[in-house]
Amino acid sequence: MKKICVVGTGYVGLTTGVCFADLGNDVTCIEINLQKLEQLRSGKTPIYEPGLEEVLQRRLKAGSIRFTDTYEEGVPGADFIFITVGTPMGEDGSADLSQVEAAARSIGKALTGPAIIIDKSTVPVGTGDWVSELIREHARDIPFSVVSNPEFLREGSAMNDFFSPDRIVLGSRDREAAEKVAELHAPLRAPVIITDLRTAEMIKYASNAFLATKISFINEIAQICERLGADVKEVARGMGADKRIGPLFLEAGIGYGGSCFPKDVLALARMAAANGCHPQLLQAVMEINRDARRLFVQKTIALLGDARGAQIGVLGLSFKPNTDDMREAPSIDIIQQLMAAGASVKAYDPVAMEAAEAIMPEVIYCATPYDVAKGSDALLIVTEWNEFKQLDWDRIRRYLRRPIIVDGRNVYDPDEMTARGFIYRGIGRGAPHLPGGIPGNGGQAKASEEPVEIVEG
Ligand SMILES: NC(=O)c1ccc[n+]([C@@H]2O[C@H](COP(=O)([O-])OP(=O)(O)OC[C@H]3O[C@@H](n4cnc5c(N)ncnc54)[C@H](O)[C@@H]3O)[C@@H](O)[C@H]2O)c1
Repeated sequence: MKKICVVGTGYVGLTTGVCFADLGNDVTCIEINLQKLEQLRSGKTPIYEPGLEEVLQRRLKAGSIRFTDTYEEGVPGADFIFITVGTPMGEDGSADLSQVEAAARSIGKALTGPAIIIDKSTVPVGTGDWVSELIREHARDIPFSVVSNPEFLREGSAMNDFFSPDRIVLGSRDREAAEKVAELHAPLRAPVIITDLRTAEMIKYASNAFLATKISFINEIAQICERLGADVKEVARGMGADKRIGPLFLEAGIGYGGSCFPKDVLALARMAAANGCHPQLLQAVMEINRDARRLFVQKTIALLGDARGAQIGVLGLSFKPNTDDMREAPSIDIIQQLMAAGASVKAYDPVAMEAAEAIMPEVIYCATPYDVAKGSDALLIVTEWNEFKQLDWDRIRRYLRRPIIVDGRNVYDPDEMTARGFIYRGIGRGAPHLPGGIPGNGGQAKASEEPVEIVEG
């Protein structure tokens, strides 16, 4: 059993703390947000993450995890101290390291004996050395080592990703310290990659940038498919069967969002530019991602003829299913653009409505997808929650003022939806679903986006 301290209890910190406690370690989590602290102490998770609350309650009861806002209660005596605070997008697009700086200084002040400090937050290359200097300033002669251990968990499956990671990446100037952190992870039986500090930090940015590139790549292909009459879902299936390509992250839609990809791709581009590189590919990835949202709005407005006075229903608000995280969610841009064009918006999301309301109070939030459909001129699928996969389409069709469905996640079968009487548009789903037009000249896309008449009843 090791003594572990985790600084910051967001998606990463709370998962790390709870899961290490579940592996039999003694964990103290430090959190400066007092409201969160109260919730956590009473066994409630401030975030929606499947399975996490049950294990938290179990560990609280067993006394193997505790929460405090005092560094002196968590740092002294800890073998391992994880930094898992936020690194949000700064004003100029680079990572804002103020939380990391505050955490490092506080750790340095509270340190009383040797410890390994592990940076799990996503930080620009070189931050580990800086964190080391900050701690040294306060810790004086106390020996410590800094290890970079980037986190790859996905919100919505964070526990599963913790217990079954594809790999554990560790980087340090102190090989022995990295090996001790590897030992701490031994029960997970995952491949461990030990490297230097800066390389470990870069692995995280490069991984996220690559995944974002896959998404933007398929979104660009989707636009071309739409013009040429090909179906991007089938294209992705055909591509993904190639082992060198793989099927994941090849789902065309309204682009990536969330608390990681947008800020990490931008921070990497900023880091590159600040160091004399010209990150052309990263720039294109970000531009295509912005376009994906804009084109989705354009497609909707083209179907309506005019957005002014229209009521639009939105299904799904969180940036992806199984999370309540609204950070950089495509829904925000899409709703704001629709409203700027003169539409009003009703929306439903299984768990993210409270978080969404704080950002977009002007939206009408509904209790069910059917309430969203009532009187709406179009229904947009923005987040592919499972519960949207099997709706009562006859009921939805009756409730909608115009039977328009614009599916930003390609959840449904175009032929089926058309047969049910909807004017259905996905992303990049050209012929054979769309009637008319000559493949190759863009005619199909045009023919399919004629404004739709109001349907009575
Ligand atoms: N969310 C993800 O899916 C994910 C995945 C991989 C990596 N990451 C990275 O992990 C880091 C954390 O992400 P997150 O989403 O968990 O962040 P978050 O913003 O949800 O949580 C950060 C927490 O740290 C607390 N905090 C801030 N300053 C503190 C301080 N000085 N002392 C103690 N607590 C403090 C905040 O109150 C908050 O609860 C980021 O660098 C992020 O890029 C996130």
